[in-house]
Amino acid sequence: MAMNKTHAPAAQKGVLGMLIDDHREVQALFKEFKSAKDDAKKNEIVQHACMALTAHAEIEEKHFYPFLRKADPDTFADMLDEGKVEHGSAKDLIALLKGMKPGDDLYDARFTVLGEFTNHHITEEEDEMFSKVVSKDIDLRELEAPMLETKKQSMAAQKAGKKP
Ligand SMILES: [Fe+2]
Ligand SMILES: [Fe+2]
Repeated sequence: MAMNKTHAPAAQKGVLGMLIDDHREVQALFKEFKSAKDDAKKNEIVQHACMALTAHAEIEEKHFYPFLRKADPDTFADMLDEGKVEHGSAKDLIALLKGMKPGDDLYDARFTVLGEFTNHHITEEEDEMFSKVVSKDIDLRELEAPMLETKKQSMAAQKAGKKP
């Protein structure tokens, strides 16, 4: 069951809300791809999703994951390791997709599988990790500003073509 950000307590609401918004954004893009008819639309969706996923993984790996690992390693270490491996699989597919265009062999399949991996990963984060963050009452408020800043930088760098 997907987490509803409006139910998160104040100490978690800002950060979890930001991550959940990202999750819903990319899930909507994967859904939209299924009914996309022409190559221009497919390309636009894939570019948008790859960029959003790259920035999202970056803010999690730079701020959110290390913070949880430090706050409560017994609870989070294993799920954070798994999350990192899943981010790695997504990054591999994103790197492949960036070198492709609609109509190429396996283009649709790679994006579809990226969507399946992503949905699985999102479910694990929200159902296991985020729910534990709430039940353990981990105060995330200090992460909010740095996460927003990293996201802004990542999107700008990607748009400028400085990042893969
Ligand atoms: Fe996430
Ligand atoms: Fe993630």
